[in-house]
Amino acid sequence: MTGLANSVLALDELFTALDDPALNSMNLLNEIANRYPQAISLAAGRPCEDSFDVAALDRYLQRFCRYLREELGYAEEQVRRTLFQYGRTKGIVHELIAANLALDEGVRVDPEAIVVTVGCQEAMYLALRALRRDSRDVLLAVAPTYVGLTGAARLVELPVLPVSAGSTGVDLADLAEQLRRARADGLRPRACYLMPDFANPAGITMDLGTRQQLLALAQAENILLLEDNPYGLFPVELDQRLPTLKALDDAHTVIYLGSFAKTALPGARVGYLVADQPVHDRAGGTSLLADQLSKLKSMLTVNTSPISQAIVAGKLLEHGGSLIAATAADRAVYARNLRLMLDGLAARFPDPAAGISFNAPGGSFFVVVTVPFAVDDALLERSAADYGVLWTPMHHFYAAGSAVNSLRLSCSVVTPAQIELGLDRLAALINDRLKEA
Ligand SMILES: Cc1ncc(COP(=O)(O)O)c(C=O)c1O
Repeated sequence: MTGLANSVLALDELFTALDDPALNSMNLLNEIANRYPQAISLAAGRPCEDSFDVAALDRYLQRFCRYLREELGYAEEQVRRTLFQYGRTKGIVHELIAANLALDEGVRVDPEAIVVTVGCQEAMYLALRALRRDSRDVLLAVAPTYVGLTGAARLVELPVLPVSAGSTGVDLADLAEQLRRARADGLRPRACYLMPDFANPAGITMDLGTRQQLLALAQAENILLLEDNPYGLFPVELDQRLPTLKALDDAHTVIYLGSFAKTALPGARVGYLVADQPVHDRAGGTSLLADQLSKLKSMLTVNTSPISQAIVAGKLLEHGGSLIAATAADRAVYARNLRLMLDGLAARFPDPAAGISFNAPGGSFFVVVTVPFAVDDALLERSAADYGVLWTPMHHFYAAGSAVNSLRLSCSVVTPAQIELGLDRLAALINDRLKEA
């Protein structure tokens, strides 16, 4: 009896972030989805599953081993050790990632500046953990903001100040104003997090001029930019791609966050960051920020699974080191699905005067639908139970308690027939809800 009583814990005596809605967003949305398995999911931002093939995993692994033997000259014993043993904290596929960034993105980085992480999520955590020195430090982030970033910031107790996206993906005047205000309040803004390509969830892509001005502003204001780029390889038109901020960065202003979740497979849990910022210590020495982050990683996940790294690298090698080549089939699916979703929305909501609008992203998975009423989790629950369709309430991407009149649809892991049926169901919900207003 006493033992039982002693094991009862009070939430308000545990880490404060555990009580924070931001940390529960993903679980809550998954929990609703799990309760309605028959509902069509226009919520999941998961990649298309057409290329999932168990046999490919072994092929990728073998391809990476061949690379170790033939290109790096490893003896069989070294090949075995590389896969089976604990490994280098910063990862074992950094050279291949650096070559890929040069090939696909025109980004030239020292492989030593790359830390391979357990998904992009760990990359965010490491960067934010290192940037948070004390309670004066704050992060700026373009709103709406990816919940994974908000959650990671909570874990390191780094407050996030929202910056308006405006029509360009970042409102530079608002960014300057937020910096000014934060400093006037005695705070120390360290970085601004953003997604220049197909932002999740807003879908905006920054034009070239905005990217250049943003870099200039960040340099003048002495803040870093955290560039997250999980969707950059999924434009509708490949020749419309713009250079990443990192490709334009000649002053180590950008920490680049990469993910293989959408370009290879999320199950491998492999991401990385490029942190080529020089760090000076008191003794007059200089290191790379990546090496400082490596210390944090060594105490968090020790190293990213070499087996996972090998699988991702094998896929990369199988396509000549190019993720553009590796993702060709997926890109075609996403472009087709996005077209179907936008055409489907236009057909179902032809009259802008009715108060329903949606954006038209140039790529990636997500479309934001704006309606003339607040969209909350209760409406999602009703949608799932009574209409059989799931989507994501946009309030999850804003500060807790914000009333938001929009929802995010995803078209990445559904068939054309599911898109049509899902939109029919969504239209029925919206029309019924409008009649109640
Ligand atoms: C904005 C953003 N960043 C990063 C990721 C990927 O993170 P990870 O590599 O940890 O799966 C996602 C995936 O949904 C995302 O939407």
